[in-house]
Amino acid sequence: MPIQFHKKTQTFHLYNNQISYIFKVLKNHQLGQLYYGKAIHDRENFDHLFEICQRPMAPCTFEGDLTFSLEHIKQEYPSYGSGDMRHPAIDIIQENGSRIIHFEYQSHEIIKGKLKLKNLPATYVENESEATTLRVTLYDHIIDTKIILSYTIYEERPVITRHAYIENCGTQKLILNQAMSMSLDLPDQDYEMIELTGAWSRERYVKNRQLEQGIQSVYSLRGCSSHNFNPFIALKRKDCTEYNGEVLGFSFVYSGNFLAQVEVDTYHVSRVTMGIHPHYFSWPLQHGESFQTPEVVMVYSSHGLNAMSQTYHQLYQKRLARGLYRDQVRPILVNNWEGTYFDFDEDKILEMAKTAQKLGIELFVLDDGWFGKRNNDLAGLGDWYPNFDKLPHGIAGLSQKIHDMGMKFGLWFEPEMVNKDSDLYRAHPNWTLETPNRESCHGRNQFILDYSNPEVVDYIYQMMIKIIDESHISYIKWDMNRCMSEVYSSVHEASCQGKVMHEYILGVYHLYEMLTSRYPDILFESCASGGARFDPGMMYYAPQCWTSDDTDAIERIKIQYGTSYVYPLSSMGTHVSAIPNHQVFRKTPIETRANVAYFGTFGYELNLNQLSQEEQEIIVKQVQFMKEYREVFQFGTFYRLKSPFEGNETVWIVVSQDQNTAIVGYYRPLQEVNQGYRRVKLLGLDEKKEYHVSILEIDCYGDELMNVGLITSDSSCGENKDGNGDYLSKLYILKANS
Ligand code: DGJ
Repeated sequence: MPIQFHKKTQTFHLYNNQISYIFKVLKNHQLGQLYYGKAIHDRENFDHLFEICQRPMAPCTFEGDLTFSLEHIKQEYPSYGSGDMRHPAIDIIQENGSRIIHFEYQSHEIIKGKLKLKNLPATYVENESEATTLRVTLYDHIIDTKIILSYTIYEERPVITRHAYIENCGTQKLILNQAMSMSLDLPDQDYEMIELTGAWSRERYVKNRQLEQGIQSVYSLRGCSSHNFNPFIALKRKDCTEYNGEVLGFSFVYSGNFLAQVEVDTYHVSRVTMGIHPHYFSWPLQHGESFQTPEVVMVYSSHGLNAMSQTYHQLYQKRLARGLYRDQVRPILVNNWEGTYFDFDEDKILEMAKTAQKLGIELFVLDDGWFGKRNNDLAGLGDWYPNFDKLPHGIAGLSQKIHDMGMKFGLWFEPEMVNKDSDLYRAHPNWTLETPNRESCHGRNQFILDYSNPEVVDYIYQMMIKIIDESHISYIKWDMNRCMSEVYSSVHEASCQGKVMHEYILGVYHLYEMLTSRYPDILFESCASGGARFDPGMMYYAPQCWTSDDTDAIERIKIQYGTSYVYPLSSMGTHVSAIPNHQVFRKTPIETRANVAYFGTFGYELNLNQLSQEEQEIIVKQVQFMKEYREVFQFGTFYRLKSPFEGNETVWIVVSQDQNTAIVGYYRPLQEVNQGYRRVKLLGLDEKKEYHVSILEIDCYGDELMNVGLITSDSSCGENKDGNGDYLSKLYILKANS
């Protein structure tokens, strides 16, 4: 049994072969944190790990006892005001205005498997034996309210998931002002915090900072998880590298506002909290009402960052993503966005599709501009019916024709948005989020529909299913192109406005759930101006996500490298686009563009008809290559070998499950002069197998490639100038000799 409750010492120990998580009921009946880290032996008594001492000025709980102060006790789900002066996990305003709460241990249950989270995305099990769940009920008898803290430990993975459920069983009208999904007090501060930060078109750059006394955090208050900060942090020891050392990952399964914070107190305790951002959140709880927080996924690794990432990849690929495409290689697509923008009609699209089919591409995706009066970004959003001026046979006719060519057809939607110049807005001007008597900001000329209003969600659903039902649609790209502002819902009363941002996200999840269950065979790709919603919440509904609007191969190296800290290659939308690149105007070879895009779902985003015969022939070969190897790219094990954040070279490798095939991606953006010799030690191979290495055309055993390394030196000196120049990339294919 991976969860033990030691009755005598009132101690919980969650463990498997890799990790241990220990906490206990304290003498004030609250929960105290004792240990989280590498697996240790179970024992009845871990009380020696509970540290307290007398501190000047500390407010103490028990009269006559000068040691027991919550100010310096490590806790599980703390509140502010009864001694603890740090940031809390929970804050409840009561009818008399008091915010003092005291939740005592009441009971617990240990159950096989993992329960679903109502209306929220979460990791799951397919078989009860995969995980065990502990539900600890805490109770505050003054306000007659309970909290259930849930912990699930996976049997074979170094993973614990956490969330909290709060229920008002009493008669008071309470306001939940903050409800984090987890809090964890770690006994020291000797960590660096890793975060994935950036902006539009440079999402998820890897940043490290040393923990210092005080607060360090990443967050979103934009209504989406954001380009700027991903809902993830990791705490790594100073000596932790990609392959050695201790690191703790925290990933939030949510797509809206979030806070991931580490507070280091004066006694060097690091308090990690993660959950919905408390700013702009306030949830009235009347008698019988409850609130469910989203889930946090904690991963522990004692073998460095790469092992942490692989744990997330495997879990998110197999036990977060769902549906037909969870286990299937993804169709190679062409998307018309950068090829045409809004300037297309049926003839142009069919011409593009014909060429795509000839080149071996499997799916044609029609992006923005097919609906309403959408000829630019000023109009049309909300009118999810075809623009018959552009598409005389509608989506039904167009998709039929593309289907008849032997290709799948995919369609773009931005279901949460509306332009003022649309039939929807003219009919329902009060369906947007807007604050009475105030101007509303637009973003890209669009306004946000009030997804906290079920009537709006249902209306959009009806429009979408009409067009989907009458057409041949195999893929949907769900976009979202602006941050929220002036958030206020006309269907909520004043006291409930603090619910709107979360209810909006619940509305988005509800629509996703309705669509994915009605159309289990449709592949969904999430998108938010590129990567503003590249988060685990989205992955539950859409197994792949458009990684970034920046399609330049060199830029993408950093973006995909950072994204791989948490998310598997099968989740990264990656396309070859035209040159000069539309974001940075760079001209990279078509080989390099593909060599970056192979490490993802793969497709093209350009007008294939504007390419030369020679380029089209290259594409035929690229498509054939991807078809041959996509199982390895999308479902192999991925290792980062050299970081683009540390120099001019990036190297990574993906290895097939049977270790018979591996593909090394090598990228060297800038040509250097007279550079030194280079080699890189590979990982993940079978040391006893002999591999044939392409490019070098040699045979080497796995142990040689992993211990001596793969020679990647350029031939920039001497006669052979092949493969030199800026934006160089190489793919080494390693195949085990039989
Ligand atoms: C933003 C997306 O990221 C792009 O790929 C494209 O779909 C545009 N929106 C269309 O408006």
